[in-house]
Formats: sequence, C-alpha cells, structure tokens
Amino acid sequence: MVHLALFVALLPSFVFAQDLGVPTTWREFNNSRLLAERISIAKSAIDTILPQLDTSTAQFNGIGYWQSANVFSAMANFDHLASSTTYKDQVIDGLTTAFKLYPDFDQYLYYNDDAMWWATAAYYAYRAYGDSSMLSMAVTTWNHVSNYVVTAADAQSKTQPNKDFTIASTCYGETMAGGVFWRPTSDDTGINSITTGLSAYLAETTSNATYENAAILSAQWIQNLQINENGIILDGVSGEDCTRTAASWLFTYNSGKYLEGLSVLKDVTGAAIWKSLMTNITAAAVKSPVWQGSDGIITEGASTASDNDGVGFKAIFIRGLDEVSVRSSDNSDLQILIHSYVDVQYNALLELAADGTSYSPSWPGPAQQFTSWGQMAALDVMVSAINTNSP
Ligand SMILES: *[C@@H]1O[C@H](CO)[C@@H](O)[C@H](O)[C@H]1NC(C)=O
Ligand SMILES: *[C@@H]1O[C@H](CO)[C@@H](O)[C@H](O)[C@H]1NC(C)=O
Ligand SMILES: *[C@@H]1O[C@H](CO)[C@@H](O)[C@H](O)[C@H]1NC(C)=O
Repeated sequence: MVHLALFVALLPSFVFAQDLGVPTTWREFNNSRLLAERISIAKSAIDTILPQLDTSTAQFNGIGYWQSANVFSAMANFDHLASSTTYKDQVIDGLTTAFKLYPDFDQYLYYNDDAMWWATAAYYAYRAYGDSSMLSMAVTTWNHVSNYVVTAADAQSKTQPNKDFTIASTCYGETMAGGVFWRPTSDDTGINSITTGLSAYLAETTSNATYENAAILSAQWIQNLQINENGIILDGVSGEDCTRTAASWLFTYNSGKYLEGLSVLKDVTGAAIWKSLMTNITAAAVKSPVWQGSDGIITEGASTASDNDGVGFKAIFIRGLDEVSVRSSDNSDLQILIHSYVDVQYNALLELAADGTSYSPSWPGPAQQFTSWGQMAALDVMVSAINTNSP
C-alpha cells in the first residue's frame, strides 16, 4: 500500500527515444561470478531474513504486509531461476496461511494493491512449483480485484458498481477504461499504476481471453495516461476528477511493474507495440536521473533507520527488468543493458552495502547491521543476478 496524495499536474505529450547503450559513468557494470556462486549469494541473502518469518501469520518481523509478499516472491523466483525447490514448503505454506487469514489476500480489506502483490507472489509460486492451489489463489484474487476495474461500459456510463461517485469517463482526452481503483472503499477515488500486471501472466498460463483482454485494456490505459515525457510511469490519478499525483512522484516500481506486464503481454499477443513500449521504457527507466546518480546505483528509498513503503520499490523494478531480460533473447543490446544495470546494483550491494550477508537499504552504502527492510529490498537483485548474468 502506498498512500496517494493528489495534486493537479498536466502532462505534456511525450516523446522519448530508445538508447540501449550502457552509460560508461555507471559503476562496475560487469560481473564475473559463476552461476553456482550467484546462487549461493542469493540463497544466503534469503536465509538471512528467514528467521524473521512468523509462520502463524505468514509475516516477516520488521516489514509490512505487502512487503512480506515480496519476500515470498523472491523465494519462489529463486527456485524458479535456480531450478530448485529449496523454499517450496515455506512459500506454499506461507501463501496458504495468508490466503486463509486474509480474504482475497487483502489483510485490511482496504488495499487492492496489497491483494495483487500477494496474488502475484502466488502466481510466481505456481510458476516455480506447478502447485495448482497457488494458481487458484491468484485467480480468485484477480477476480476479486477485477470488481474495481473501470470497464469500457463503466467509463461510458460514468458509474462503477463498487464506487459511490460519478467516475470520470475520460481524463486528458483518454478513456479511463482499464484503470483499477487501488482501494475497495466505495468513496475512494484513487486509481494507480501498480494494481495491474497479473492479468498478463494469467493470460499466458491459461490462454483465457478474459485475462488477455483485461491486460490489454490496462496496458493501454497506462500507455495513454500514465507515462511522462521522459518515458517514466506515473503513480496515480483520481478516477473522479482526474487530478494526478505530484509530477515529482516518480517511483521505480511503477515502471518496473509495467515493464514486467508488458514483457508478458508482448509474448501473449505478439503485438509490436508492447515490445516497442517495453524496450523504450526500459531504456528510459534504467537511465533515469530521478532515482540514481551518474554511477547508476539506485538511491531511492534508502531508509536506514526505519521501514517505509518506498524502501523496496527498487526491488520490484529489478524484478520487472529481469522478466524483460528473460523475454528479450532477440535483443542482445537490451539484455546487455539490463545485466549491466543489475550488476551495478549487485556490486554496490556486495561491495558497499554488505555486512556479511546482510544488506543495507542504502545501496550506495555504507553497510549497516541487518534490518528486515534492507534485506527484503536486496533479495530481488540477488535473485535476478542469477539470471541476468551468464554463465
Ligand atoms: C520507441 O523508440 C523508437 C526509436 O526511438 C521509436 O521509433 C518508437 O516509436 C518508440 N516506441 C514507442 C511505443 O513509443
Ligand atoms: C569486471 O571485469 C573486469 C575485467 O574483466 C574484472 O577484472 C572485474 O573483476 C569484473 N568485476 C566483477 C565485479 O566481477
Ligand atoms: C476465464 O476466466 C474468467 C475469470 O477468472 C472465468 O470467469 C471464466 O470462467 C474463464 N473461462 C474459461 C473458459 O475457463
């Protein structure tokens, strides 16, 4: 969950070019560690946070509910990429417990994006372990959250069955169809970018057109309304009066989540537009001065004293880039750009931010003792590096 504050800001139309070159100012953008060592580093990072798991609640001490889903996601993706079942029992037990305790994975009955982070973790668990109960949790949660989508008919009628206000049919000249309300509360008007992305995976896995159509509609909504002039994905917009979150509210995970969804959607549809958009946004996002200096190390959410929502955004960005890389074997420049970027983060964590196998939430360093939030944020880098590097 991430609190929305709405401000008025109009967007100029955007033009952003594609440049897949690796900036030579990036710090240490290569890595020569072999696969077995990368797997071992990722496993140690996960094992360092596991003692914080309370199996009765499926929560990790020291981090919030949605962040715990990200730890389970990293565990499942570790096994997926390492072709192992090291964390299978913990992941399946944890997700099963959470789904029993929290209807549709929404702990507070308050945040559709919480539900979607967990449902996506369940999807990753299905992908890693083939356990059909994981897929059905993802599907059930998807169906629940789809009650909060603006359909084409809703946009036309300016009503949404679960909202008690007149909804905007268009904003800035574009249809609001495909937007997803981030909270179920009937008077909450916020629609954000992150409450999307799962449909593409479900479409790919089930070949069910319901998911494909939903994925396309939401991808188009983001394409039309949620990309700034520099190719970076915006946070939120009011579904009532179109006010946007502040133009300065640019977070890595909005771009990361969209990139992940686009990478799957391009494979599901074969449509050139999604591949082109995915490629261009990747090039823009890994070079954005908004969240990093010229050395390329992400500085966003470097909260060393306490947990906050923003600390793990960058992890979701890296996870999304990894999916783009996996699905871009036809574009070696793009894969090199992503592996270089992941290596910048990987080397920073290992050389500047590590205290043994504990990682600071501040990736440029300095190292500090274990915190659950710092460790959670580092996991996706460690896991992605298994994959983006070779051999
Ligand atoms: C991506 O960038 C290329 C080259 O700069 C451009 O031709 C193309 O239209 C862009 N694609 C999208 C979807 O904006
Ligand atoms: C990057 O490449 C250089 C030159 O091959 C090598 O000396 C260095 O160890 C590599 N860096 C890492 C972190 O592997
Ligand atoms: C496709 O998915 C939707 C949403 O989960 C479901 O209602 C429908 O029954 C599915 N269709 C088939 C043929 O499985």
